[in-house]
Amino acid sequence: MKLYLDTADIDQIRSAVALGVVDGVTTNPSIIAASGLGYREAVTGIDDVVDGPIFAQVVGESADEMVEQAHRYQDWADDVVAKIPASRAGFEALARLRDDGVPAGSTVVFSVEQAVLAAKNDADFVAPYVGRLDDAGADGLETVRRMQRTFDRQEFDTDVLAASVRNTTQATALYEAGIDAITMGPDLLDAHVGHPKTDEGIAGFDEAWGDRGSPIEE
Ligand code: G3P
Repeated sequence: MKLYLDTADIDQIRSAVALGVVDGVTTNPSIIAASGLGYREAVTGIDDVVDGPIFAQVVGESADEMVEQAHRYQDWADDVVAKIPASRAGFEALARLRDDGVPAGSTVVFSVEQAVLAAKNDADFVAPYVGRLDDAGADGLETVRRMQRTFDRQEFDTDVLAASVRNTTQATALYEAGIDAITMGPDLLDAHVGHPKTDEGIAGFDEAWGDRGSPIEE
């Protein structure tokens, strides 16, 4: 399973990378706008601190614009994957990028049928939005489970990359369902670290050991 960080904040990326679990970084126009960086600046800055793919979304409404941007992103770093919205123009762009050999996948995905169109285009990934599916009154986790089951049974190479995951309950349900990939904000990754009982246990051991110093000092 791949675990990606969903942010353009370099300090937060650095601190998450130190945990040894970050396989790459996902961004979107909202994330880059919030960072105050330009697109190119964000991608190259992330590339300096992460060993793994950087996902950069295209903007605009026409397939031509999307294809042009996705090609340009390839010049900015060694491992950039274009995120293409799952619209009609987006699927057209995806088909053209596949023919051009440019890494790309579908984002803002809300249904199994959209995901299948992306997989039929040999997309590198599809990114269903778990939290926003719930916001819309659907069952985000169940939709993603069906997507993953469909891809596994059809033996599609496309990764199901769960996005808009907002809490550890959703994240652990996705791990259990055998999700190919997940992206999460730094706060959700932080919520994976530690446990109140872990803190309590550590405090108990520290107290028992008292002022005896480091175990490797005789
Ligand atoms: O990767 C998509 C994610 O950033 C969207 O999250 O919580 O705004 O639905 P959210």
